[in-house]
Amino acid sequence: MKNYITIYDIKNIEQTIKEAIQLKKNPYQFEKLGNHKTLVMLFFNASLRTRLSTEKAARNLGMDVMVLTINDTWNLEYEDGTVMNLNTAEHIKEAACVISQYADIIAVRAFPSLTDKAKDESEYVLNSFLKYATVPIINMESATAHPLQALSDAITIEELKVTSRPKVVLSWAPHPKALPQAVANSFVSMMKDLDVDFSISHPEGYELNTELTKGVAINYHQEEAIKEADFVYVKNWSSYNTYGKVLDVTANWMLTKEKLGTAKFMHCLPVRRNVVVEDAVLDCENSVVIEQANNRTFAAQIVLKKILNALK
Ligand code: CP
Repeated sequence: MKNYITIYDIKNIEQTIKEAIQLKKNPYQFEKLGNHKTLVMLFFNASLRTRLSTEKAARNLGMDVMVLTINDTWNLEYEDGTVMNLNTAEHIKEAACVISQYADIIAVRAFPSLTDKAKDESEYVLNSFLKYATVPIINMESATAHPLQALSDAITIEELKVTSRPKVVLSWAPHPKALPQAVANSFVSMMKDLDVDFSISHPEGYELNTELTKGVAINYHQEEAIKEADFVYVKNWSSYNTYGKVLDVTANWMLTKEKLGTAKFMHCLPVRRNVVVEDAVLDCENSVVIEQANNRTFAAQIVLKKILNALK
């Protein structure tokens, strides 16, 4: 694997999920693979899980890790030919080349603006690192994708499923703030690639990018959609069509224990209790959010392992 930008950078997803589950059983099996290699993690946005699990994954492989919070450094310029006499102090051309000298792999987190759809969809931050860095790039959640989360979600479903083809429903849930579509996008892509009975449920107006959801059943009635589900993955996202907006929704889409039934509850975290999902769901034994977060380490570790192997 050269870079990990979307889930499509994984050649064989089912095999990779199995390899990650094996790594989880013996996380130090390849503890020398990353000796004298450095992972630099760049955060344009906040993180708890991604930061800690990716660092842990790298250390399990013997790598050194450096973390830079971009707010603590110079404001970067991405446009070519700009007269940089305003508030950008360093061009991505220099920054990416300089960081590449300190890093064997660069991981980047850069969320969307949710105000300029075309600019967000250009993935200009991630793509600028891909263009100007001289080492592999890992996406730690970009404007449109969160492939490490999706891989972790797939590992969790594989570990916990009790039927060969589980019913998996991605359900929108309310949130007071406008959130990106990235987690939902990558989860949809991942589920389309796996042997699961997959559908999406959301209020009208919250359709995701139809290029991604092509071929996936969409149900505007949450309770009907999640009936007899094995896994209910709850996530808020802002409107894609009315880009970045929080639309008025009259029905109550917060997930309750009654609606969940016997299904396993999934969420990428962080989650707002009693807004997105009620306490009774998060605190019940069918909630697998902590296992999901744990699997972030092994998702990152299998990706790092594949990239390190390609560097040899
Ligand atoms: N799920 C996830 O990416 O968590 P963080 O935003 O805390 O990294």
